[in-house]
Amino acid sequence: MHIDPLEKKWVLISLGMVSLFISIIMVDALLHGVNAPSNVETIDSRKIHLSEEFAEDNLGVHIEENGDITVRMVAGRYAFFPKQIVLPAETKVTFRWVSMDVLHGVHMPMTNMSTMIVPGYVAQVESSFPRPGEYPILCNEYCGLGHDHMWSKAFVIDKEEWDASIAEQNTTSDTTADEESNNE
Ligand code: CUA
Repeated sequence: MHIDPLEKKWVLISLGMVSLFISIIMVDALLHGVNAPSNVETIDSRKIHLSEEFAEDNLGVHIEENGDITVRMVAGRYAFFPKQIVLPAETKVTFRWVSMDVLHGVHMPMTNMSTMIVPGYVAQVESSFPRPGEYPILCNEYCGLGHDHMWSKAFVIDKEEWDASIAEQNTTSDTTADEESNNE
């Protein structure tokens, strides 16, 4: 088969460009910890409020027994619930997202916190925030007329400030427990 040398050159150039783009994507994904979709866990979207994990009073930031931080949030037209969360900086945070209605996307600009929230599935993403500050939590999948108003906020505070507030909470709950036992 005869291929014109000029045509050959352009075939090689276009193959080179494709491999360049793929390597840029791969390097960027590895360096910035891009999260691949993790929709392996299923959940009944119509009964989220009845599930133990995503019941209203179990949403938000939780410190697990081993000290890990888990954030559980529900996406629904048109907000992420709870509307505000507070997190420590420089700490690994595991986010677990579910949708109560349609397909949403969640994105926190300047972080790797970005995933689709498909109804019927739990989307789990790990992230951490090097710098304290206010981070918007935005929806980035068109989900209806209120899509562009769909956002919540995360306040990332200094790790020391966080540790101090946790210690304070523990002492207050200890004293309340003591008072309760005294009253008995
Ligand atoms: Cu939710 Cu767009």
